[in-house]
Amino acid sequence: MQIRFSDSRPTGDYALVLPVAGKDRSALNALGAAKESVSAALDRSRFDGDASSSSEQFFDDQGTIRRLLVVGTGSGTGGGDAAEKLGGTAAAKLQTAGDKTAVIDVSGRGYDADAAARVALGAALRSWRYDRYRTKLKDNQKPTLEEVVIVGGAAGAAERYEQRWAPVAQGVALTRELVTEPANIIYPETFVERVRESVEGTGLEVEVLDRSAMEQLGMGALLGVAQGSVREGRLLILKWNGGSNGGQTTAFVGKGVTFDTGGISIKPAAGMEAMKWDMGGAGAVVGAIKAIALRKAKANIVGICGLVENMPGGNAQRPGDVVTSMSGQTVEVINTDAEGRLVLADALTYVQRNFNPSTIIDLATLTGAILISLGHEWAGLFSNNEELAGKIQQAGEESGDKVWRMPLAESFDRLIDSPIADMKNVGPREGGSITAAQFIQRFVDNGVKWAHIDMAGKAWSDKSASTYDKGATGFGVRLLDQYVADVLER
Ligand code: BES
Ligand code: MN
Ligand code: ZN
Repeated sequence: MQIRFSDSRPTGDYALVLPVAGKDRSALNALGAAKESVSAALDRSRFDGDASSSSEQFFDDQGTIRRLLVVGTGSGTGGGDAAEKLGGTAAAKLQTAGDKTAVIDVSGRGYDADAAARVALGAALRSWRYDRYRTKLKDNQKPTLEEVVIVGGAAGAAERYEQRWAPVAQGVALTRELVTEPANIIYPETFVERVRESVEGTGLEVEVLDRSAMEQLGMGALLGVAQGSVREGRLLILKWNGGSNGGQTTAFVGKGVTFDTGGISIKPAAGMEAMKWDMGGAGAVVGAIKAIALRKAKANIVGICGLVENMPGGNAQRPGDVVTSMSGQTVEVINTDAEGRLVLADALTYVQRNFNPSTIIDLATLTGAILISLGHEWAGLFSNNEELAGKIQQAGEESGDKVWRMPLAESFDRLIDSPIADMKNVGPREGGSITAAQFIQRFVDNGVKWAHIDMAGKAWSDKSASTYDKGATGFGVRLLDQYVADVLER
């Protein structure tokens, strides 16, 4: 879908979108003679102008019958969030409605360059869909919307969109694609290939470790998970050096379990297909670093994805196996379904040995327990540093990728001591997300600022929202991107 910005409405066929802020119908002045009849129709359909509400009708636009979508933006002060909802609602309603062009007219509504650009962002994000495997879509199910024109934003909106938000939309699209693809298509090797193709020309450096390279480094924790699958594991490393030479490096680390059967501690059949998106953390890392590279962020970032498939099989690891991680610490694998932390452990050691980052943020669909705590609304945030936690929370509020702080404590750490090895990979059922975070923390070096984001409830959504449809959300891309903008580019 194309995005354009203009000072005036085009001629010819298009659907017109007007934002109405609560009870204030002054935006309808743009309709000229049709204003009264449209307003009466809004009353009769009980349209109240609340955010994300909408009403569709047709009106007589000086002799042509034109589709009109009135979108409520609420009576608040608006801002970027309301702007995204406007664009997203318009895209959702009009994507398959029949018109090729949607004109979102914000003239006179006080949209500054950023707000107008974020109308476009909302439309771009909400119109993402993946039809690769649908060969029998009926004509009226196929998208018709080809172009969205934002009219009447302040000067500089087009530049703002190109420089700040179009890269984010592209990063989110990559993440959603990877998360959506089934596990017979995206496995460690093909994840790497897909990312390579997608980031070509961005200036990102790509490095990949295969099994033998990881064996040489002693990554027994990651390889223990990978060994049950005929698909070999990979470690994917993406580097963006947009900051000052010798400046501090920030590392993003993602859990990339391309399918999680649970291994020998196998999961129940019902709903197991959801575990194709157990690589959502890795997906977020690559989407974010792509966005960061596309907008040429002035920051030094390294993204690391631990990619494995967790399968049962003749060579799978067993409950009770002891593995030696790259850090030298040993782990008793009590439950082969607690595999994400094993993968992250070696990815963390690798990034610290090779890039000496001052700050690490890891993202993982790590525990079912975080869904019990926070549902699908917030991701869990764990951190050893108050300031870092605060900045990530702030980035979450600004971007809409919300995180809620959870505790870490010595008393939880003790729960993963093992009688045979340095630690075991699971604690008791209670506080399962916290003991998982404690496990990861054992692989973080002294002095490194670290945050862990458990996004098990966020990678996939069973219901649509203003900037995504049902399915892959792209969670994490905007959070990391906003963190970079807020903290590293200052
Ligand atoms: N990938 C799962 C966590 C998960 C569960 C993500 C539901 C999304 C939805 C993870 O690898 C896992 O299996 N965790 C176990 C840990 C347990 C064995 C300690 C869990 O949460 O049940
Ligand atoms: Mn698991
Ligand atoms: Zn998993």
